[in-house]
Amino acid sequence: MSAEPTKPVPSYSTYLQLQRLLSAQLPPDYAQMTPGTDAATAPVRSLAHHDEMLFIIVHQAYELWFSLVTHELSRVRDLLGRRGAAARDTVSEDDIPRAVNGVRRVNEIFQVLMQQWRIMETMNPASFLEFRDLITPASGFQSLQFRQLEILAGLSGNLRMDFEGRPYASNLEGWERKRLSAMEGELTLKAALMDWLSRTPIEKVFPQFAEKYCEAFAGYCNEQAALQQNNPNLSDAQRQRAIDAAREQAASMHTYVLGGDASRNRAHQAFLFIASYRHLPLLRWPSALLDTIIEFEQGFRLFRFRHARMVERMIGARTGTGGSPGVAYLDNTSSQYKIFGDLLEARNFTLATQRVPKLPDESLLGFRFA
Ligand code: HEM
Repeated sequence: MSAEPTKPVPSYSTYLQLQRLLSAQLPPDYAQMTPGTDAATAPVRSLAHHDEMLFIIVHQAYELWFSLVTHELSRVRDLLGRRGAAARDTVSEDDIPRAVNGVRRVNEIFQVLMQQWRIMETMNPASFLEFRDLITPASGFQSLQFRQLEILAGLSGNLRMDFEGRPYASNLEGWERKRLSAMEGELTLKAALMDWLSRTPIEKVFPQFAEKYCEAFAGYCNEQAALQQNNPNLSDAQRQRAIDAAREQAASMHTYVLGGDASRNRAHQAFLFIASYRHLPLLRWPSALLDTIIEFEQGFRLFRFRHARMVERMIGARTGTGGSPGVAYLDNTSSQYKIFGDLLEARNFTLATQRVPKLPDESLLGFRFA
């Protein structure tokens, strides 16, 4: 009697598909490829320099982490967002800690990503030049996953810089552009967060919150103006500028919470509300979520900045392999691309705890026992 074939069981290498993963470090041999050849099945070439292995693996490691970041942020977006027929008006209290953990995980990944530039920097710039031309016109600029991550987070098209007068995705392949434009119609993390914030039932706890906060902030601005009025170190012009700035702050605070689109105003009010009473039990997790999102924004921007510094050190001010002005382009994206900019703007209006308007009834935000 012949023995039944044994059912395959996982081994370390089959479960992790290591054979596939570890056989993808030699580049396709483009010199041997004819038009229409698929790069995935093309013959490979040997490494052009010892450090090309480092260059490839560092990029691949980033791409793997990008994939996990997108996986995590999609879940956070879904936990917060309204989706189709299953739209919910409230996010369950269990889901907020889940969302916080998701964003915290992403923030930790960004810490690792920041460290990885150092590994790239162990390559000598002259060594890179030995194989750089073989890569042209490929560039991180074409990273589909990076673009997906930006869109998922909420980097909207109107914020983006054109690339030499062409849309940012013009160097991608047709199927990649299609995927990006499909994503552009989907709910983003930022939209889900703003929607969740705008549903905060402030009126049940403190109906006059926005007006009272504006009053308190205007009082603070007047005091700031008086402080500058008596500042002996300023010239008359500097003094006037500082006083005008304090008055303008009071006006911008008013616009921020009461002067624009109703839903955005409500989200802005909620952000200030949660930040003001963050010590109260029911607001602790919402407050932690907002803090982790701000940290994510900071991590993303520092990532761009740190990449630009590595590039500057590696190739100076040369044109990128993708054809952009190189470091100058990267510095622009790192200073201009703010996804959660209007939440950061709320930091202009933070008040010291003793100045925050007193809640009519703190117990409404206390622990509740069923
Ligand atoms: C020696 C190493 C590297 C150099 C010299 C370099 C250089 C550049 C340059 C000059 C650009 C601007 C576009 C262009 O004209 O090509 C760029 C964009 C980019 N690179 Fe790198 N890069 C390096 C490594 C990496 C790595 C390891 C990653 C990780 C995936 C990466 C991700 C990106 C991304 C996502 C962009 C687009 C940024 C944006 O549009 O804001 N780069 N890179």
